[in-house]
Amino acid sequence: MKKIALLFSFISFYNFAQQTAKPTGLTATKAMVVSARQEASKVGTEIIQKGGNAFDAMVATELALAVAYPYAGNLGGGGFMVYRKSNGEVGSLDYREKAPLAASKDMFLDKDGNVIKGKSTATALAIGVPGTIAGVFAVHKKLGSMPMSEILKPVIALAERGVIVTKKQEKRLQDYHDAIVKVNGPNTLLAGNFKENDTIKYPALANTLKRISKNGRNEFYKGETGKILVKYIQKKGGIITLKDLEKYEAKWRKPLQFNYKDLKITSMSPPSSGGICLAQIMKMIAPYDLSKMGHNTEESIQVIVEAERRAYADRSQFLGDPDFVKIPINGLLSDAYLKDRMSSFDVNKASLSSEIKEGKVNFNESTETTHYSIVDAQGNAVAATTTLNDGYGSKYYCDELGFFLNNEMDDFSAKPGSPNMFGLVGNEANSIAPQKRMLSSMTPTIVEKNGKLFIVVGSPGGSTIITSVLQAILNVYEYNLSMQDAVNAPRFHHQWLPDLITFEPNAFDKITIDKLKAKGYLINEKTTPVIGKLDCILVLPDNTLEGGADFRGDDTAVGF
Ligand code: GLY
Repeated sequence: MKKIALLFSFISFYNFAQQTAKPTGLTATKAMVVSARQEASKVGTEIIQKGGNAFDAMVATELALAVAYPYAGNLGGGGFMVYRKSNGEVGSLDYREKAPLAASKDMFLDKDGNVIKGKSTATALAIGVPGTIAGVFAVHKKLGSMPMSEILKPVIALAERGVIVTKKQEKRLQDYHDAIVKVNGPNTLLAGNFKENDTIKYPALANTLKRISKNGRNEFYKGETGKILVKYIQKKGGIITLKDLEKYEAKWRKPLQFNYKDLKITSMSPPSSGGICLAQIMKMIAPYDLSKMGHNTEESIQVIVEAERRAYADRSQFLGDPDFVKIPINGLLSDAYLKDRMSSFDVNKASLSSEIKEGKVNFNESTETTHYSIVDAQGNAVAATTTLNDGYGSKYYCDELGFFLNNEMDDFSAKPGSPNMFGLVGNEANSIAPQKRMLSSMTPTIVEKNGKLFIVVGSPGGSTIITSVLQAILNVYEYNLSMQDAVNAPRFHHQWLPDLITFEPNAFDKITIDKLKAKGYLINEKTTPVIGKLDCILVLPDNTLEGGADFRGDDTAVGF
């Protein structure tokens, strides 16, 4: 990490904006998939090699991650997908989980109205109605080109063949072992004491996928799989019924689009906060010459942190499921409003989050999740982020079906002002209601430059997703880093509350941090978390694709 810090402090002396950096990541001339596991990137790429498009590859990669990366890849969770077709047409799909029909606003509170610790994360009540299977079938129906059975073949084969345990996976399985055994008993599949290079086979998941391949989407929502799932959840004390599954629909939504200098950015609209927060931050920092300020310098960190602080304050107040609450999107993104929002920024001292409330807007969304980026041979692009919320979700693993269930109910605001597992506070807009979708931070994003596909980007990381996506884009565009270097670069994060800047450990210049402290910035020195895990693709001027696969995980780019 120290070497990386030195390299990046060198970069920070120069104004590199608008040049093209030499690629340092995997390059490919036709197509590429970058995801959290090599096995999933391979399955997706092979679908494209067989003549499938990016959308067929999306289905294959999403489900291959459920096999190869059960930490976050899933059948029992949900996600968001943003696409850009080679003709420039854009769109987005919301396959986020929903609150069950029997959910209620105060379901995680005690008789005194206080949040019961762990109830929204570690009980079967934490499970939201899963959206992943509805999502992949919706994508396939609208945009796919290969038969679903052909797409699922290599995924089923992977589950039957099994997946080799990596060093990082061995650690994750050890870290979560007791929590998984606690709710599922000692005989559950992942209770095995797996070591690096062991192979884990997933026969139950292979059988579930075979039934889905044969019977289609309704197998999960109305068929044998749905019935087994509901029986399992209810046995564990959950409230999801067959009616909840039957009523679930993925939704095509208008993506959120905005400009940053000469970039056109397409990201996810609510119920993800990703697109709106990213747009607010980028619009607030646009007037500043970040490139001239330098990469990860005191000045540039200050500008970005102050914009993040203000955007996350608005997130907490205004954002929720647009099918339930009215969100003042135009007001939140208006130039005048955002200019006014930054008017209290003083370069000589930190703003205090206690003094920054949400803005006045006129009314006329582990820390784990996983993202993958795809570009196919025609130039179609997919950015998809999918999650169980926490690592292995609620830890409830239905052995009969072979997958984990999410604990996404924690992404609701159980009580106004009370922080969720990411320390995010929310308000009435994100309160629990039957059938409502919980606010997300997932930010699958596609960037165009001069009307041409430029970057496909996204990340896991709960509340740090948005700021990781932001830094990936800025690192390429403002600081002229290659895609891989942009992903490798150390990251920082601020989310309004708690009022702290979190830096990746041992990666930032101590002098810079001391200067920020002197200005009143509060630094998170206790925890040393990973901030995001980016998987991106950059289209170079000659149309070569450069992958940026995050070294912080087992992430891998595969292309041809
Ligand atoms: N569960 C993380 C998110 O949706 O933001």
